[in-house]
Amino acid sequence: LDKKVKQNNWEEGNFINYKKMSENLAIVRSRLNRPLTYAEKILYSHLDDPHGQEIERGVSYLKLRPDRVACQDATAQMAILQFMSAGMPSVANPTTVHCDHLIEAQVGGPKDLERAISINKEVYDFLASACAKYNIGFWRPGSGIIHQILLENYAFPGGLLIGTDSHTPNAGGLGMCAIGVGGADAVDVMANLPWELKAPKVIGVKLTGQLSGWTSPKDIILKVAGILTVKGGTGAIVEYHGPGTNSISCTGMATIGNMGAEIGATTSVFPFNDRMYDYLKATKRSDIGDFARSYAKELREDEGAEYDQLIELNLSELEPHINGPFTPDLATPISKFSEAAKENNWPDELKAGLIGSCTNSSYEDMSRAASIARDALEHGVKAKSAFFVTPGSEQIRATIARDGQLQTFEEFGGIVLANACGPCIGQWDRQDVKKGEANSIISSYNRNFTGRNDGNPATHSFVTSPDLVVAMSIAGSLSFNPLTDKLKDKDGNEFQLTPPTGEGLPSRGYDPGNNTYQAPPADRTTVNVQVSPSSDRLQVLQPFNAWDGKDALDMPILIKAKGKTTTDHISMAGPWLKYRGHLDNISNNMLIGAINEANGEANKVRNSTNDEWDAVPAVARDYKAKGIKWVVIGDWNYGEGSSREHAALEPRHLGGLAIITRSFARIHETNLKKQGMLPLTFADPADYDKIKPDDRIDLLCTELAVGKPLTMRVHPKDGETFEVKLNQTFNEAQIEWFKNGSALNTMAKSAK
Ligand code: F3S
Repeated sequence: LDKKVKQNNWEEGNFINYKKMSENLAIVRSRLNRPLTYAEKILYSHLDDPHGQEIERGVSYLKLRPDRVACQDATAQMAILQFMSAGMPSVANPTTVHCDHLIEAQVGGPKDLERAISINKEVYDFLASACAKYNIGFWRPGSGIIHQILLENYAFPGGLLIGTDSHTPNAGGLGMCAIGVGGADAVDVMANLPWELKAPKVIGVKLTGQLSGWTSPKDIILKVAGILTVKGGTGAIVEYHGPGTNSISCTGMATIGNMGAEIGATTSVFPFNDRMYDYLKATKRSDIGDFARSYAKELREDEGAEYDQLIELNLSELEPHINGPFTPDLATPISKFSEAAKENNWPDELKAGLIGSCTNSSYEDMSRAASIARDALEHGVKAKSAFFVTPGSEQIRATIARDGQLQTFEEFGGIVLANACGPCIGQWDRQDVKKGEANSIISSYNRNFTGRNDGNPATHSFVTSPDLVVAMSIAGSLSFNPLTDKLKDKDGNEFQLTPPTGEGLPSRGYDPGNNTYQAPPADRTTVNVQVSPSSDRLQVLQPFNAWDGKDALDMPILIKAKGKTTTDHISMAGPWLKYRGHLDNISNNMLIGAINEANGEANKVRNSTNDEWDAVPAVARDYKAKGIKWVVIGDWNYGEGSSREHAALEPRHLGGLAIITRSFARIHETNLKKQGMLPLTFADPADYDKIKPDDRIDLLCTELAVGKPLTMRVHPKDGETFEVKLNQTFNEAQIEWFKNGSALNTMAKSAK
């Protein structure tokens, strides 16, 4: 294990440290004296203090030393702006930035990319210059989607990566523990602070049997999402194991890890196996594969490792699934799907099929999808639905262009979009239906919350494998089952589609395509970071005020949000993405998607100072101008979805003090703490129902202490004041964040 093996082919001097990891693990083993899961092994081998760290799954906070940080362009802006305000000369840990979220799909790859480069010029210039300045690898627009680039270049077995995007767990396909975090966490690691994570529980998923026919790796996670639901993975790492893992390609395992974000899991991991070795070899990293083989014993679970929950899946019996609409955990097997569509009145006509995204754009995915498209073409038929392809990376695009799959998609009637997120994150200039018109679309993406793809709340968005997307697009109907139903060829004769086939790895190797990487220069002292003071897209951050040391009395409830309140509801993406680097401007989207219990409407709340109804951000600004602190009341799993810290920065910026909910999604809860807000949960979830939107709230903030509940006094408009107990998960260090006004203020203070 003494060998010096580089983490990747792009950076000098950053090595894989299996030696240190095995030493740390030996210390932890001697303390715990029990078999360990693979997820635990990765985490514990990255402990900051393996001797002293308290370790109890689901209870203690681990202080960790990740190997790498990765940011996408929408979240990188705020992360880097925050890093800059800590005043350091360069990042302390290897970091990369990836330009993928800001490219809108309109007409097709090259034109869309060109337009994006011009529209986002100041953001790209800022990121490129800041990356050069602070020693960060920069992947230019057009390079591809962050998770695909990470898998192709940076992920390695046993490593620990944090990324400012919720689908970072994609790298679990290469046996890496890759966790989605908010920008503020990334800043900690860039600045060499240990990164804190509540020791996750471990959910084991034992796979037996093997995939075949129409069933693909995606169906494993679609099924698991149905079992565990969007909340089921909260606070846990999902660890796949068992003989079935060997029948899944490395990129297929990445798909499963990727969409694990949809069940709220901290991440998902697969044990190191030959499929990973093959992928490392195909991506020119055999040295890493060989090194991993020498450490293989620690790159899987110990015999007898115990899981907090165990799910068993027989892949030989698994059916293809389609999940949705509106939530990724509504899982329906294909054999029941047509019936479900009829029963629920889902619009039968399929308007669009979309393949690709970070979830499903591997060579294997593209090859299988192309095999179905080719089958259709050979029968003289094309896609009936509009059909879009987003290659996950320049390397994939170039390789499928060379090997012919791309041409097949174009012949099939498809539009090949830029190597970017595009419609997956609402970057879709969709023209074929009007806002509010009910319609169905199907994609190989991972997330299908209301309005996510096209901003239309009436769009029924389904997620499935690329195979099924292609097949359903040929029929143009939700009632089609390619496993049993027939289609009509150009002469009106019936035929049945052949199950997909395709190579897992390109037999001629990957074609790297255009060079889209910018390495940081050797001399960085002369680099200037470009932020214009008049910019409406970038704004240098001002520190938040410290806590005033007092209880907060007589606060209004800005909104009592009913039902699902995801980070998309709190800080909508789509057109707002362009303000990700400008806190004041983006705050105009705060909570505009949340449903107000008072009137059942979005973005309409009563201003308690003048009784007028107005937009949520407008009322918050008015309170702030009047020096009034406010709170939000939220339902279950508040803040589920993405890691965007804007969802926490915005309420803080507009003067909010606390978010009080039945429960939180993990990342969002931490993000709120980082920004100096109070995420609190009802000790008795039924108390949520006792609060009315017009009540006034006292919060006894002076009671804040580790492990102690906080008292909330509720003053109903008409009626007796009553008290409610609120739980909180602050530890000592996090309480300092609250007192100092934010984690960053705390960091700057200790740097001084
Ligand atoms: Fe991008 Fe969608 Fe993945 S937004 S990072 S392609 S989940």
